[in-house]
Amino acid sequence: MSTTTVVPNDLNAFWMPFTANRQFKKSPRMFVAAKDMHYTTSDGRQVLDGTAGLWCCNAGHARPKIVEAIAKQAAELDYAPAFQMGHPKAFELANRLIDIAPKGLDHVLFTNSGSESVETALKVALAYHRVKGEGSRTRLIGRERAYHGVNFGGISVGGIVTNRKMFGTLLAGVDHMPHTHNLAKNAFSKGLPEYGTELADELERIVTLHDASTIAAVIVEPVAGSTGVLIPPPGYLKRLREITKKHGILLIFDEVITGYGRLGTPFGADYFDVVPDIMVTAKGLTNGVIPMGAVMVSAEIHDAFMNGPEHVIEFFHGYTYSGNPIASAAGLATLETYKDEGLLTRGAELAPKWESALHSLKGLPHVIDIRNIGLVGAIELEPIAGQPTKRAFSAFLKAFEQGVLIRTTGDIIALSPPLIVSESQIDQIVTTLAGILKTLE
Ligand SMILES: Cc1ncc(COP(=O)(O)O)c(C=O)c1O
Repeated sequence: MSTTTVVPNDLNAFWMPFTANRQFKKSPRMFVAAKDMHYTTSDGRQVLDGTAGLWCCNAGHARPKIVEAIAKQAAELDYAPAFQMGHPKAFELANRLIDIAPKGLDHVLFTNSGSESVETALKVALAYHRVKGEGSRTRLIGRERAYHGVNFGGISVGGIVTNRKMFGTLLAGVDHMPHTHNLAKNAFSKGLPEYGTELADELERIVTLHDASTIAAVIVEPVAGSTGVLIPPPGYLKRLREITKKHGILLIFDEVITGYGRLGTPFGADYFDVVPDIMVTAKGLTNGVIPMGAVMVSAEIHDAFMNGPEHVIEFFHGYTYSGNPIASAAGLATLETYKDEGLLTRGAELAPKWESALHSLKGLPHVIDIRNIGLVGAIELEPIAGQPTKRAFSAFLKAFEQGVLIRTTGDIIALSPPLIVSESQIDQIVTTLAGILKTLE
């Protein structure tokens, strides 16, 4: 007989991710339900979702088509082996994705998260050069202040100091371009900041240093989200595209946040009119409901692998849950919901309202920058001397008490509501924040 004592409300066992566990467990914040733009807390309060969950519930919560598709799929075909076997929905989803992806991205590899999508993209890039006979191209170039998930490839090409400090030596053979964030020159920019396009030329310097023949790929987020909404200057991404193309280096866009309508276009690639060789996505692919990621690659990359004896596996990579039936069904229903409601472009319609609402916070205490693009915004606060992150974290706690979910990273408040947000809900987010900023220590 089991001697396990089940204590449902003991918070101790679950070591929570990216959470101040001791603070949380002293004063827990629990959601028990969600519908459309709102969460319901365990004490029965409604909280307006200002962050689309974690930048993922782009169509809002508990959307009927997605809920139904998941239930139906679970009853019909719950799981099919991902290797050497198939099921129709994964193929259908890949086709639907290619329909909305930038022209030139023609094949899809499925994963279960943004982090796995990043690892997959980096491995495709390395193996691509190898199958092409350029196996000396092993170096990967990322950027300072980049976030590419939590696995070793991603934290290596990423530019987050805590990762670099805590987790050993990471991958060898990685270099980093500078980030483009510049408060002195670009504070309170509306849309793209004016200064910094020439920072793309740092890539030329890195290529000269290492020699192009050693470099496999450059990976960037079109807009860096998790490290505080860092928006590129005009022409910056186009310049990276030119330089990578010139040197035979693959360009990878990490669109885990910018994908699926966040900038008011289907993908960041569309917003900036730059097509990468590989595009990394996740989050909004299934509206955040079921873990899934998708990596889209060009035909040139895919076709380079389709050589040798036909019984041999061409790309030695995959996950037990790649293209899982329930995730595929959720993805298809999500894309349908986006299409039915025009959500992949709705952000562009709301962007002017969003911009003016956010920038109305200029001049309030502690605000040192406000920036916006599509339906993403950031309010950067002056840190409390000697206590970085504390001021923004206390804004987060107050906002939660006052019925609005925001997200903070360092002393930056990041906002990314579901793409179904109404103008009055935008006002509610901003009015709540205005009140809070006036009372912060
Ligand atoms: C740009 C980017 N890449 C990768 C990831 C990692 O995604 P996941 O948490 O699904 O592994 C994130 C998550 O926020 C992200 O913003």
